[in-house]
Amino acid sequence: MTKSSGPDNAKDETDVDRRTFIKALGLSTAALIFGGLSLEDYINPSAKKQPLLGNYPVAVLVDSTGTPINVKNIPPAAKSSSSYPIMMFNYPLQDEPNILLKISGVSSQIPGSVKTGSGEYLTAFSGICQHLGCVVPLLDYHPHNSIPFEAQLIGYTELNWPEFGLLFCKCHGSQYDPTRGPHNLYNSGPAPSPANHSLPQVMLSVDAAGNVYATGMNSANAVIRTHLWQPGGEEYGSEVVDENLSGGTLLPLYDGPSLPLSPVSDGKLYKSIVISSSNGPWPRK
Ligand code: FES
Repeated sequence: MTKSSGPDNAKDETDVDRRTFIKALGLSTAALIFGGLSLEDYINPSAKKQPLLGNYPVAVLVDSTGTPINVKNIPPAAKSSSSYPIMMFNYPLQDEPNILLKISGVSSQIPGSVKTGSGEYLTAFSGICQHLGCVVPLLDYHPHNSIPFEAQLIGYTELNWPEFGLLFCKCHGSQYDPTRGPHNLYNSGPAPSPANHSLPQVMLSVDAAGNVYATGMNSANAVIRTHLWQPGGEEYGSEVVDENLSGGTLLPLYDGPSLPLSPVSDGKLYKSIVISSSNGPWPRK
């Protein structure tokens, strides 16, 4: 993004960057959806798939150059924020988008989050809507001063849009409150909808140097329903890990300089690239 002379220009440029990003992300998402489905999925969608991994992988979040992103450089969303960049990364498999959020000014710990400063929490949620599977950017985070038009159509105003915003799905209006951690379904979502569930939460960790890792899904709500590779599929209960770790593509292995957090169980450290609509805050140091 080029430098501009005033706040209006800066906002215009931010909007253009965001629109450009959303177009690019839309194409990527379409490729991801259709590329992730095999003929077998259509013919026999209930076919069980073997897990690719025995446990959740540990993945360091990196920028497009493969450089680990420092937690300091992730922008915070506050009560006063009027926009927030989309920051998307895949986890636990390559086919599963998630939304990264840092929320600032919260009075109590966001369940399942990492505290990164006074009143500041880093968390992430599946970018696959748990209603019928629309994905980011149709599902996106909107802070208090950025109520999407589609939410206004169903009655949301600044009086009833929460102070730390919502993840909102433009497909049918599902709402998810990121300050509630794994139990984030807000109101009832689109009605009638027996298939409505909270967004699964990604467990994160930050090492002493500020590198950020995805380490698993919150066991309180781990099933990612409407997997992109699993049309119409919903799996529950004890099959959680298998379902989250099967049917997709492994994340790439991290191949950069060694990092403080040792990889776990399988001895491997993976990486997940964060795509940002704001042209970074990274790789600024
Ligand atoms: S798919 Fe998100 S609200 Fe229906």
